[in-house]
Amino acid sequence: MRNIRVLFEAERIQQKVRELAGQIVTDHPNQELYFITVLNGARPFSRDLQAAVGSRGSYKIHNYEIALQSYQGTESTGQVIVTKDLEDRVVEGKLVFIIEDIIDRGVTMDFLVKYLLEKKGVERVKVVSLLDKPSRRLPGININIDYRGFEIEDLFVVGYGLDFDGKHRDLPYIGVLEQ
Ligand code: IMP
Ligand code: MG
Repeated sequence: MRNIRVLFEAERIQQKVRELAGQIVTDHPNQELYFITVLNGARPFSRDLQAAVGSRGSYKIHNYEIALQSYQGTESTGQVIVTKDLEDRVVEGKLVFIIEDIIDRGVTMDFLVKYLLEKKGVERVKVVSLLDKPSRRLPGININIDYRGFEIEDLFVVGYGLDFDGKHRDLPYIGVLEQ
C-alpha cells in the first residue's frame, strides 16, 4: 500500500476554484459560457468551477464533454485520438473554455486546441487548467494557459479527478503517490 502525501488540501483547491471562477466572470461579464470538459480527470474541477461561476450571477453555462487518449510511442511526440467526440456544430463560431485537470507534456492540449479551431470551427479557445507542470513540456509545444490553478514540479499527482491506473480519482484533495 502506497502513501499519499497531500499537496493541496480540499479547501485550498476549492478556494482556487472560486478564484478562477472570479477571474473568468470578471473577464466575461453577462455572457453565455461554453465549457468543454476533458474527461475523465477534469470532471470534479469542471463541476465545481461551474457551480462557482453560477454562484456569481445568472450565467448560462453550456458544458460539453470530450475524451482523448494519448499514446506515447517511441517517438517523443505522442499521438492523440478522440475517444468521445462533441456533437457536430455545437461550438461552431463560439469562444470556448477548455477545462482540463493537468497539463504535462502538453501533447493533449496542443492537439485539442488545434482540433477545436480546425475541425470544429471554434472561433476562440481559452485554456483553463487546474494544474500545470511546465518543466515537463515537450520541446516545440507552447500552450497558452489563460486560467491556471497551481504550478507544480515534475511529480505524479492523484486525487480530485486525477488517477493512477484508475485509482484515487475520488479523493477530495490532491497528493503525490509515494513508494
Ligand atoms: P499531456 O498530454 O502529457 O499534457 O498529458 C495530459 C494528461 O495526462 C492529463 O490530462 C492527465 O490525464 C494525464 N496526466 C499527466 N500528468 C498526470 C499526473 O501527475 N497525474 C495524473 N494524470 C496525469
Ligand atoms: Mg486530463
